[in-house]
Amino acid sequence: MQFVRVIDTISEFSHVLDLARRDGRTIGFVPTMGYLHDGHLSLMRRSRNECDLSAVSIFVNPLQFAPEEDLASYPRDLPRDLQACEAVGVDVVFAPPVEEMYPEPTLTTVSVAELSERMEGAARPTHFAGVATVVAKLFNITGPCRAYFGEKDYQQLVVIRRMVKDLNQPVEVVGCPIVREPDGLAMSSRNVYLSDEERGAAIVIYRALQVGAAAIFAGERDATAVARLMADIIAAEPLAALDYAEVVDADDLRPITSLEPGSRVRLLAAAKVGAPRLLDNLGVEVPA
Ligand code: PAF
Repeated sequence: MQFVRVIDTISEFSHVLDLARRDGRTIGFVPTMGYLHDGHLSLMRRSRNECDLSAVSIFVNPLQFAPEEDLASYPRDLPRDLQACEAVGVDVVFAPPVEEMYPEPTLTTVSVAELSERMEGAARPTHFAGVATVVAKLFNITGPCRAYFGEKDYQQLVVIRRMVKDLNQPVEVVGCPIVREPDGLAMSSRNVYLSDEERGAAIVIYRALQVGAAAIFAGERDATAVARLMADIIAAEPLAALDYAEVVDADDLRPITSLEPGSRVRLLAAAKVGAPRLLDNLGVEVPA
């Protein structure tokens, strides 16, 4: 039985990882905000399979929540998260208090222009600067590593990849497939907010993405028509308030109008279902 080591200071976490690297061990790092579900666990398992030492951070980052958002009520359960980490064989958990990460108000933020501005960025204008800033801090603290992120937050993944490239951070970003409930709902810590009725309605987002993808496979080449099709399906669900349904270039999130054969696109949608905003996306390679 292995016991996961829990660390709450930056200096100790950095030291443990430095020692491991000095011994020639590779580091896998999974940044999370806790309340772990199977999606997170899949990232940890991948890290375990690919790296010598796997570290997970559990930190609900205040910087990425706007004042009216759910920072105070964001679900938290550290004892349960530690058990889950231990069960999948994580070696080290970094769970710092807020004062450790932000001993004083941060004057320096990282913002990734353009990629952060549309979709989630339009709905949550300060969100991605908060994410990029904390992830940059976590990468500095962790040092050279492979860092695992879920494709569920696809725009976040693209933003982080670009930050790493622009800032020459010594991190290899690994995007991992979305893990879904048996009916297809993308796993998210915020699903816990859904009532039974809302939980039933929430599946409309994935259904809309599937219909969008099916239209492309059936020969639709007008991206605007695909986006409209997805939006109409979500808008028809009385418990869902559509935020956006988009078809974008999979690499740089550029909005596209025509679907070029052989190109890689991403269908993304977001809607409020009851209290939570839910996100989902699907990758499609346009048939030649
Ligand atoms: O995806 C998340 O859980 C968070 O945005 C992250 C990357 C851990 C930064 O706080």
